Amino acid sequence: MRDLALPVIDAKPRQIAQLPQKDAGTPKVNSYCVGDAIVFLNKLRGKGVKGVATSPPYNKAFNGRGKKPGSNWKNSKLMADNYSHFEDNLPEKDYIQWQRQMLSAAVECVGKEGVVLYNIGRKIKNLSEDRRQEIVDGFTVRQLVIWNRGSSHNQGGKRPSILPPIYELIYIIAGENWRLPEKYLSEFRKWGDVWRVNPEMNNPHPAPFPLEIAARMAKLADGLIVDPFAGSGTIGIAAQEIGLPFILNDLSPEYQKMFYERQTEHFAHRRLL
Ligand SMILES: C[S@@+](CC[C@H](N)C(=O)[O-])C[C@H]1O[C@@H](n2cnc3c(N)ncnc32)[C@H](O)[C@@H]1O
Repeated sequence: MRDLALPVIDAKPRQIAQLPQKDAGTPKVNSYCVGDAIVFLNKLRGKGVKGVATSPPYNKAFNGRGKKPGSNWKNSKLMADNYSHFEDNLPEKDYIQWQRQMLSAAVECVGKEGVVLYNIGRKIKNLSEDRRQEIVDGFTVRQLVIWNRGSSHNQGGKRPSILPPIYELIYIIAGENWRLPEKYLSEFRKWGDVWRVNPEMNNPHPAPFPLEIAARMAKLADGLIVDPFAGSGTIGIAAQEIGLPFILNDLSPEYQKMFYERQTEHFAHRRLL
């Protein structure tokens, strides 16, 4: 097992806008915090978090050749450089290191009883490798879930080097005492480890979870669930649907606002049904 006590990296994720400087203290249950993911997770260590369910930025805007994002992939404008407070273009080595540090903080946060659900898509490295394995190397991956999105947004241009990627992975990194919550066993049996769920199309955030994926993650956690890269806050909506406490976090105050508006609209609509 690789040493998980990782050195602090110099290259911090680049922020586009100034963040609020005030430290709000320990995050409150059922709230959305604005700040850095790792700082957020460290504050929650030992506070009863049962699940960390998250999807980080995929470093889509970094192509290693110094070109502008979007110059060799027509959809990357939509997917990558559109985050309101984040450029998503770290050198690949720093990105991997950063994600490993985040996972270490997440694992510490949930302890032996909890579970980390880490969703990440593919990104080719040197035409043949996939860097996901480097990120999770040494962590206790209990199981891999394949999220079959049903279609690919990347058709690879005129001379593609790979088949269109249709699936993403969800790593289940579990504490040694974590077990599947009994009350959902019949659902888990139905889902298995390949989840066929369409991507979310009606959300202004550039890379949101579909509600169904977030709800499945929340059921696996079945307790206080947190998302350090919360974006539009789908984990928070799913948690409320199921009746679980949650805490969200993102660098962007715009996404925080997006979540609170979305929450009001979502539950107002539900009341009308
Ligand atoms: C893939 S999106 C998550 C979307 C979310 N799952 C949803 O359903 O909307 C990743 C998010 O990470 C945020 N982010 C980037 N760097 C961050 C950091 N250092 N700390 C916290 N959030 C960060 C971005 O602003 C972006 O909203």
